[in-house]
Amino acid sequence: MISYQLMIACLLISLLVHVYGNLISASRNALESKHKSSCQVCDCVGLTADCSSRNIASLPQELPRDITVLRLYNNCITHLPDGLLGQLYQNLEVLDIDLNKIAIFGNHTFTGLVNLQYLMIGKNPFKPESFHKLVYKPLENIRTIQVNGLGDESKLDSRIALFDAFEGLQNSTIEAIIYKQITLMPFVLENKHLRYFKHCHLKKMVLAENGIFATEPGFSHNMPQLEMIDLSSNILRGRFPGTNIFLTFI
Ligand SMILES: *[C@@H]1O[C@H](CO)[C@@H](O)[C@H](O)[C@H]1NC(C)=O
Ligand SMILES: *[C@@H]1O[C@H](CO)[C@@H](O)[C@H](O)[C@H]1NC(C)=O
Repeated sequence: MISYQLMIACLLISLLVHVYGNLISASRNALESKHKSSCQVCDCVGLTADCSSRNIASLPQELPRDITVLRLYNNCITHLPDGLLGQLYQNLEVLDIDLNKIAIFGNHTFTGLVNLQYLMIGKNPFKPESFHKLVYKPLENIRTIQVNGLGDESKLDSRIALFDAFEGLQNSTIEAIIYKQITLMPFVLENKHLRYFKHCHLKKMVLAENGIFATEPGFSHNMPQLEMIDLSSNILRGRFPGTNIFLTFI
């Protein structure tokens, strides 16, 4: 009799344990699937969302709000609505939108991204007239801007718009500019573009694999903190006299 009651009690206890266990794992699954749904398309690890190479056609809006790194490399995004990146992901420090189909970079494309330090925007088909000269201005904490590859290849000179955009970096926190393979047309590196860096701490400038065939004299006065300039694979002849700058030539 006693052992029968004991058996019932044991059964009841194990039933309770079972139900409780199921409840716990159900709520854990719910949590996981909630996290998954906000990262369905992308890989979210810590504060990094990697959405590279996924055929994404517009900015993913369901990612965790607090991400600091957003990789959108190699997708089909055609448009970044004014201020949307900044509204959704204002903690972003790193943004990679290389190799998409973005045709317009306006003066509010990056509005609100006040924490952004590293921006990569190469290989997008923008035209000179649709790359606003103040596109970088909202980036209050920018350190590095990297453009690797041509804009709209049919417009040979998106390069001019990229250089005009230095105006938006006047007195900014910029430390490195990397503009590689941005044009097929030979050009002179002009002080009218570089003068915007006069009060910046620009340390590194990479202009490799462009068509630079000359620089205006006195260019180093516009970049007093410069430690390294890479002008390799251009068509320059000669050297910069009287600077302490490490030059990587041809
Ligand atoms: C941004 O561009 C728009 C449209 O071109 C213009 O109306 C506006 O004045 C510009 N804002 C700044 C700060 O340049
Ligand atoms: C940049 O800084 C210089 C020197 O401090 C100042 O004269 C100039 O007005 C500033 N320009 C802008 C656009 O803030």
